Formats: sequence, C-alpha cells, structure tokens
Amino acid sequence: MQMSDYIETINKKLDEYIQIQYPEDIFKAMKYTVLLPGKRLRPVMCLETCRMLGGNIEDAIPTACAIEMLHAQTLIHDDLPCMDNDDYRRGKPTNHKVFGEANAVLAGDALLTFAPQIIVKNASNNITPEKLIRILCEYFHAAGAYGVIAGQVVDIESENKTPENPEKTLEYIHTHKTADLFKLSLRTGAIIADATDEQLEELTQFGQNLGVAFQIADDILDETSTFEQMGKTIGKDKISGKLTYVSLYGIEKSKEELNNLLDKCECILAKHNLKSEVFDKIINKIRLK
Ligand code: IPE
Ligand code: IPE
Ligand code: MG
Ligand code: MG
Ligand code: MG
Repeated sequence: MQMSDYIETINKKLDEYIQIQYPEDIFKAMKYTVLLPGKRLRPVMCLETCRMLGGNIEDAIPTACAIEMLHAQTLIHDDLPCMDNDDYRRGKPTNHKVFGEANAVLAGDALLTFAPQIIVKNASNNITPEKLIRILCEYFHAAGAYGVIAGQVVDIESENKTPENPEKTLEYIHTHKTADLFKLSLRTGAIIADATDEQLEELTQFGQNLGVAFQIADDILDETSTFEQMGKTIGKDKISGKLTYVSLYGIEKSKEELNNLLDKCECILAKHNLKSEVFDKIINKIRLK
C-alpha cells in the first residue's frame, strides 16, 4: 500500500470508531482533533511495520487507529494554557479554544481510555489473548508515566532554566515525549506480525532514532518554517524558553544530528533487508538540508 492508501483507510476507520452520542459535547471534542488533517505518521508506521514483517494489515488497523487517538490526546493536552498554551493545531483553533478548557481536558482523558477499548473490541481472530495483552502493555507503557507523560513533565520543568546536565535532559525529553510513540507504533506493528525478539529490538532502535530525529526537525521548523507549513504558531519555543536542540546546539548542529540519526535508520533497514517505500518516504520527508 502507498502512504495515501494507508491514510485513507485510517481516516475512514477513525471516523467510524468515534460515533457521536450522548453526552455529545465530549464525543464532538474527541472527534474534532482526531479527524483534523494530521500527517497520520504513527498509524501509517504501525501498519507498514506489520506489512514489512509479513503480517496482515487488517489485524493492525484497530491498534494503528488507537495510537492516532493517543497522539491526538497528547496534542490536546500539550496545547492547553497550563502546558504550551497554543491557539492553533493542524491549521485550526486548538481543542480548548473550540470546546473550552474543561472539555479539552476531558476529551484528552476520554481519548486516552477510549483508544485501548478500540484495540480490545475490534481485535480480529488472529489476535490471541496473549498478543492482546502484549499490545495493551505497550500502549500503557508509552502513554503513561514511563512514556509521553515523563517527557512532557521534564519538558515543562526545564522551561526557562538550564538543567545540571542539559544534553542528557534534552535527550530524555525527546525520547519520551516523542520517540516513545514512534516506538509504540513500530513495536505493536511488529508484535502483530509475530516478529522475533531480535527484529523487535532493531525496530525499537529504529523508532528511537526516527522519533528523536522527528522532534529535532520540529524544533528547527519552529524557528524556520511558517504557520501555513506547520498548521501551528511558529516561534513559540524561544518565547517559552523551551529546552530544544536549537536552543542548546543551534540550527546547523541540530541539522547534522538529525541527518545522522536518519542515516542510522536507513542502515537498520538495509542491514535487515527490510524494504519499504513508505519508510523511505517518511525518512526523506524528515531530512533537512
Ligand atoms: C506533533 O506531531 C507533535 C510532535 C511530536 C512534534 P506531528 O507533527 O506528527 O503532528 P500531526 O499528527 O501531523 O498533526
Ligand atoms: C510534542 O512537543 C510532544 C507532544 C505533543 C507529546 P511540542 O510541544 O514541541 O509539539 P508541538 O510543537 O506543540 O506540536
Ligand atoms: Mg510541548
Ligand atoms: Mg507544543
Ligand atoms: Mg514543537
């Protein structure tokens, strides 16, 4: 499948999985951010990993969609006034701007708990109970205090100060706030396709490198791109005193590191003879000149 086919499948399923019902305000708020046009990178990576390892894409669709719901939750909460205080996301007003702060907090909470139910309720016959538990454990690990939340806490507490070890702190932030969902996408796709432990290990490394590279690109683009390109307000990291690759190393060195990490990703695919036009495309899109 091509990138556009995956995106079409994912969008259709996301729309189907979230049915507006009473109390409508919460389901509307959930659906709003989930269905806004994001890049759908994480669910695409989940499906493509499954395909690449010889699995059946159909078996991975509920998990892929659940990961996109989790991602939307992190975006809704990340944009709140108490976090990054952003007014635009995916080219439109942020969730709290449309539905109010209380409903945005609740919509995030609702998505976080709705997503794993999607995985359970829509599991195909090929998903054994053992596999289901493994997928759910991966989900909860990445979503919680060992994962994105850990990254977000350290991101917020590092604002406007220089931590004792800024290099290590920055790596910690990027690993958890961003790479953890990349690893989740790859690992669940691999588990569904019955990957070996060695394959799982290599794909975890791939996801770590790709995820950190992606966040470095986001840090750079926050300084160099436009609202039209990103669909969100640009230049906020500097104003908020965020610890980013750009603030610590400058743009040129950040680009170098980003491209190094992407080279490593390509090496992992080549070493294991994993062929994927979709991953080639994703890597090349993140690469910056
Ligand atoms: C935004 O992720 C959050 C970061 C990790 C920088 P994306 O850039 O993948 O957001 P969407 O899904 O395309 O909106
Ligand atoms: C993204 O970090 C991390 C999460 C949303 C979990 P950013 O705060 O840099 O993301 P954007 O720039 O708001 O998309
Ligand atoms: Mg943030
Ligand atoms: Mg933000
Ligand atoms: Mg950013």
